[in-house]
Amino acid sequence: MSDVSPLWPATLHHFRLDSEDPAALLDFYGAGLGMAAKQLGEDLWRLDGPARRLLVGRGDNESVAYGAFAIPEVARLEALQRWLEARGVEILANPSPLFGNAAFAIADPDGQILVFGVPGPEAGAAAAGTDDALPGRIQHLVFASAQPETVAAFYRDTLGFVVSDEVRTDDGQLGACFLRSDEEHHSYAVFRADAARYDHHALETDCWNDIRDWADHFATMRVPIWWGPGRHGPGNNLFAMVRDPDGNRIELSAEIEHMPRDMEFRTWAHEEFTLNMWGGAWMRS
Ligand SMILES: [Fe+2]
Repeated sequence: MSDVSPLWPATLHHFRLDSEDPAALLDFYGAGLGMAAKQLGEDLWRLDGPARRLLVGRGDNESVAYGAFAIPEVARLEALQRWLEARGVEILANPSPLFGNAAFAIADPDGQILVFGVPGPEAGAAAAGTDDALPGRIQHLVFASAQPETVAAFYRDTLGFVVSDEVRTDDGQLGACFLRSDEEHHSYAVFRADAARYDHHALETDCWNDIRDWADHFATMRVPIWWGPGRHGPGNNLFAMVRDPDGNRIELSAEIEHMPRDMEFRTWAHEEFTLNMWGGAWMRS
């Protein structure tokens, strides 16, 4: 039996974001993100835009019901399930309507649900995004945790993500950990905070000028840039963030670093210039 997880390569495919007021999110992601909505159930909608997908459900504000990663080959998905079962991970039923039967779910140490699946016909766009939708491929999903060491170790040692960068405090505590499941710097990251919660998701644009165009677009909606523009140390990507009506953060990113699977991780100081090399950072802890 191989001692290397069958996870690689896997890409973030979609996630389900919950809200007490789904209608407000549907409006925002429609006008703001150029995504077209289709109702799937009484309290569930899918939103499609260019290279980005999102499910919106009725539930607690600022909570992600699940994040879903695509593994395009059935044989590798099945190998990943066996790999996880051999490590004592409970396999859960797939909750996502965007993946068919070839999918399963697990819970991470904070109870956050992750889905792994083969995108089938049902994953294809149900509706075209708006004609003027700007480029932004769904790329990474980030959570905060009160136990980032435990969570990062689960993603690295049990699931098979590869650490790209970690942030450490002066006394050696893990402040953040960025992990990749393909050559893009991170598809998942965890930040230390006082409690487990959803942190943000990112759309990878085609170039830096796209971030300008996104900012001009949000200006027409009177949606302010919440953080940025700047350049992250870990990932070296250019970025700006906005917030949706619930306060969920959306990152527009460009030029994210690529790292081969066998490239060693780096360690950064826990300071503002790490998270934004241009200065001024959102510090979660
Ligand atoms: Fe990010």
